[in-house]
Amino acid sequence: MTRIISLTALVAALATFSAARPSSHTHAVHEKRGAISARWSNAMRVRSDADMHVKIGLRQSNLHHGHDILMDVSNPSSKNYRKFWTEEDVHNMFAPSDESVSAVKHWLADSGIHDIRITHSDNKGWLAFIASGDELENLLHTDFYEYIDSETGDKAIAAEQYHVPKHIQGHIDYITPGIRLPYLRKRSNVNKIYKPAQTRHVPKFAPMSANTIACDKLITPDCVAALYNIPKATVTPSPNNSLGIFEENDYYTQSDLDSFFTHFPSYKIPNGTAPTPAFIDGAKAPEHFGGSESNLDFMLAYPIIYPQNITLYQTDDPYYATGSHSQGYFNTFLDAIDGSYCTSCYAGECGNDPLDPIYPDVNSTSGYKGKLMCGVYKPTNVISISYVGSEDSIPRYYYERQCNEFMKLGLRGVSVFFASGDSGVASRNGCLGNNTIFNPERPASCPYITSVGATKLPENRTVNDPEVAANDPAGHPYISAFASGGGFSNVFSIPNYQADAVANYFEKHNPPYPYYNGSILGENGGLYNRSGRGYPDVSANGDNIAVYNNGKYTINGGTSASAPIFASIVNRIIDERIAAGKSGPLGFLNPILYKNADAFNDITEGTNSGCGTDGFSTAPGWDPVTGLGTPNYPKLKEVLLNI
Ligand SMILES: *[C@@H]1O[C@H](CO)[C@@H](O)[C@H](O)[C@H]1NC(C)=O
Ligand SMILES: *[C@@H]1O[C@H](CO)[C@@H](O)[C@H](O)[C@H]1NC(C)=O
Ligand SMILES: *[C@@H]1O[C@H](CO)[C@@H](O)[C@H](O)[C@H]1NC(C)=O
Ligand SMILES: *[C@@H]1O[C@H](CO)[C@@H](O)[C@H](O)[C@H]1NC(C)=O
Ligand SMILES: *[C@@H]1O[C@H](CO)[C@@H](O)[C@H](O)[C@H]1NC(C)=O
Ligand SMILES: *[C@@H]1O[C@H](CO)[C@@H](O)[C@H](O)[C@H]1NC(C)=O
Ligand SMILES: *[C@@H]1O[C@H](CO)[C@@H](O)[C@H](O)[C@H]1NC(C)=O
Ligand SMILES: *[C@@H]1O[C@H](CO)[C@@H](O)[C@H](O)[C@H]1NC(C)=O
Repeated sequence: MTRIISLTALVAALATFSAARPSSHTHAVHEKRGAISARWSNAMRVRSDADMHVKIGLRQSNLHHGHDILMDVSNPSSKNYRKFWTEEDVHNMFAPSDESVSAVKHWLADSGIHDIRITHSDNKGWLAFIASGDELENLLHTDFYEYIDSETGDKAIAAEQYHVPKHIQGHIDYITPGIRLPYLRKRSNVNKIYKPAQTRHVPKFAPMSANTIACDKLITPDCVAALYNIPKATVTPSPNNSLGIFEENDYYTQSDLDSFFTHFPSYKIPNGTAPTPAFIDGAKAPEHFGGSESNLDFMLAYPIIYPQNITLYQTDDPYYATGSHSQGYFNTFLDAIDGSYCTSCYAGECGNDPLDPIYPDVNSTSGYKGKLMCGVYKPTNVISISYVGSEDSIPRYYYERQCNEFMKLGLRGVSVFFASGDSGVASRNGCLGNNTIFNPERPASCPYITSVGATKLPENRTVNDPEVAANDPAGHPYISAFASGGGFSNVFSIPNYQADAVANYFEKHNPPYPYYNGSILGENGGLYNRSGRGYPDVSANGDNIAVYNNGKYTINGGTSASAPIFASIVNRIIDERIAAGKSGPLGFLNPILYKNADAFNDITEGTNSGCGTDGFSTAPGWDPVTGLGTPNYPKLKEVLLNI
């Protein structure tokens, strides 16, 4: 946890006088701050005898090579293809080196801060100690100030810049307190990440039997199977291949699952079938009142994977899950499946951010009183996550650190699927600039995950006809408009595996909008970032899905449905691999998927409206609406089985 400043020691402190110390030729500026929000006011010099809780984040080794290593392990033509790493290998590869630890400790000792005062985190990620205001200012050749957020009253300590000796710069990621002021909370909770799926509409027609005759009106499990040629499971599922599904602040209902299983008897899923719990930091499921997201995820996955099991990664105690007490997302989940994530440092974060929940949760009577769960669960081979938020709703460093962690999961052989969002080229938080610039979704735009857009079977078409991009105006049939999330990242550049696909799209189907490609948002009137990672990668049906929710047979939709369909198909193929005597895990799939566009049903009709435009258009080949297209099970199986 990064609640590191003892603010009470500083309250009402008077600025003491001491001149900024000049930095010598042995030192260099390590970090320097840019402009800060006008909300930060009343900056007052920190008292010389104040207790400063200092944390030095040590640089993770080899992080800059992580991308190349993942691409190598995920590249079917490499001799290292599918040579996955153990958790320990990954940890050792990226842990700060002993050399870094000793170089930094020497510097501290030379400055009078001896070993006995220093705490070293278990995973070697950081060194911590308490120093007086004076001591820290001398160490870093700077002045520290206490700032107050005029809107919330929050206090924070920071300097405009600080110095460290040149020879240890390479060993240090960053120091806190340093230049950073915390991400400003908004008074309302508009930044909270959201679930794309909502139960929006009760169908006008009576429940029908499970068949594929009316798939243009209601997508049943039989429709999904027919659309993508998914046969009934014939192999015995492996006990090592449970399908992972993430949920937060949304809970499945057993009675709804049972009603659904009963409604579709040909799948022979008995009442009481439920996911294997992997509950994180005080989360619990099921609840009596469901859970449109959880119910949707399980009702799509079970018919495809049963009798394989589902592992439910349900996160956070009720105090934090309900949303008003934390703005972070996914970090407590990542902590639980990779212990080193709990304390590893990147770009100003060592372990969880102040935006994230704090455990033990002392603030709520029903809160989780245990320690933050670190590395307690093994990640499943395949993980499906139907939660997204906009890239701009969270600090950039927060997203980058998380995306690096998905890179590490890929190295361990985990395939991660994310819904691409339900707001077309916009996000649920709206658009950027003057509400006209497209707003990419995260983690859909992280280059180390597979993001899944949504398709729809339009009226009067059958499962043998082509699907189109999902794009429903508000009220038809859902309350709010829904369009398959897609576009180009402002944070991550175009990865190699999709460079040809993206170039082909721009060359042959150039979007009719101005764009920017440098660091200035909206430059030249641009609406999207021409040098950003394109998403989604793939797609699957996400409209008019038959579900039970709170006892009612109804429809639901969203890319929330698409992600578990795609993840379930990959899970099934891994079972086929294991049954054929091969090793199961497939890891990060994008490189092999982009090399095998033939394994997809290309979607060439429809757009993803948003920000007052029609959005991008689908096109032959990859497009930023439906990616490579929807899966063709037999073809995808052939690609992924014969490697
Ligand atoms: C699924 O979980 C149940 C209950 O833990 C177990 O009995 C069964 O063997 C598991 N099935 C597979 C395929 O792992
Ligand atoms: C499951 O994994 C364990 C340990 O990783 C291994 O010993 C066992 O053989 C695996 N079982 C199957 C059916 O693959
Ligand atoms: C399974 O549960 C559903 C929903 O509660 C119920 O309608 C059905 O009768 C149950 N079936 C069996 C065999 O118990
Ligand atoms: C508990 O609540 C208080 C007041 O709302 C807040 O200042 C403090 O940070 C909270 N502590 C935790 C651990 O969330
Ligand atoms: C924002 O849009 C409004 C309405 O179109 C326009 O009047 C205004 O000038 C725009 N502001 C900027 C800064 O572009
Ligand atoms: C679907 O078919 C019906 C009956 O032929 C027709 O009335 C309706 O207009 C058709 N809808 C579309 C979108 O083509
Ligand atoms: C556009 O994307 C590039 C490549 O990732 C990035 O360097 C640049 O900062 C982005 N521009 C904006 C305005 O976010
Ligand atoms: C970036 O934009 C400028 C101006 O619109 C253009 O000249 C240049 O070719 C673009 N570069 C790329 C890589 O698209």
